[in-house]
Amino acid sequence: MAIILDGKKLRDKILVQLKSKLDSLDKKPTLAVILANDDPASLIYVNNKKKTAEKIGINSSVYTYPKNVDEKTLINKIRELNNDKNITAILVQLPLPEHIDKQKIINTIAPKKDVDGLCDYNFGKLFAGEKPYVYPCTPKGVLLLLDEYNIELEGKHAVVVGRSNLVGKPLAQMLLNRNATVTICHSKTKNLPDITKTADVLVSAVGENIIEEKMLKPNCVVVDVGIFKDNEGKLHGDVDFENVSKIASYISPVPGGVGPMTIASLMLNTVELSAD
Ligand code: GUN
Repeated sequence: MAIILDGKKLRDKILVQLKSKLDSLDKKPTLAVILANDDPASLIYVNNKKKTAEKIGINSSVYTYPKNVDEKTLINKIRELNNDKNITAILVQLPLPEHIDKQKIINTIAPKKDVDGLCDYNFGKLFAGEKPYVYPCTPKGVLLLLDEYNIELEGKHAVVVGRSNLVGKPLAQMLLNRNATVTICHSKTKNLPDITKTADVLVSAVGENIIEEKMLKPNCVVVDVGIFKDNEGKLHGDVDFENVSKIASYISPVPGGVGPMTIASLMLNTVELSAD
């Protein structure tokens, strides 16, 4: 049976460390969150971020807009937050409505307040193998979780399923920076199982139930970034946990794996940005 990569436990450990660090600071960081969609899941995520921040001593403010908000309104708000000395970190909750140019909005955030590390400056630094102000939260959380369990990456074949800017692309680059041999798979990949079967470390970030036991080699490490609800409202990841956990060496559960680590990384990033 696989060892569980326990994201909740590591999140709690990180939050305790952060809280004691924050308790010793005179000036607390302030995280500004922009929410501009009507997605109930996004609202839950944002409330969770705010609650966690406040619990450890990070101030936070949430700016909510209707989904028909125009680009100019969001850009003006971000410029105002960029110029506000009390705001140390800015997060635009994704997804944004279709009519909004997502990258234009993200690029309006000053790079040193871009707590998601998603603007062109921070992304470019990452892909150039240089240091961005911060690394994107979910990939950072995945690596923290692997490191916590001393999972070796150098020389290993890491297969990332999913190529989003939020997870797949930056994670692949971060694994490459750690000297893994990286393959990125996506919806147009042919013979996915032939590739996943050669993975020493498999990370799936798709949002569909696609990873089965027969697609994996025994003793591989499996990280499940996917999260979605079935018709009955039950939460699932991308991985058939019940069967895959019988053959994997390590596996992250959903919920309780990468999700809590994303929040922990956001808190770490918020504190890192306030120190600059
Ligand atoms: N939506 C889902 N995950 C994330 C995330 O990590 N950052 C932002 N900004 N939006 C998200």
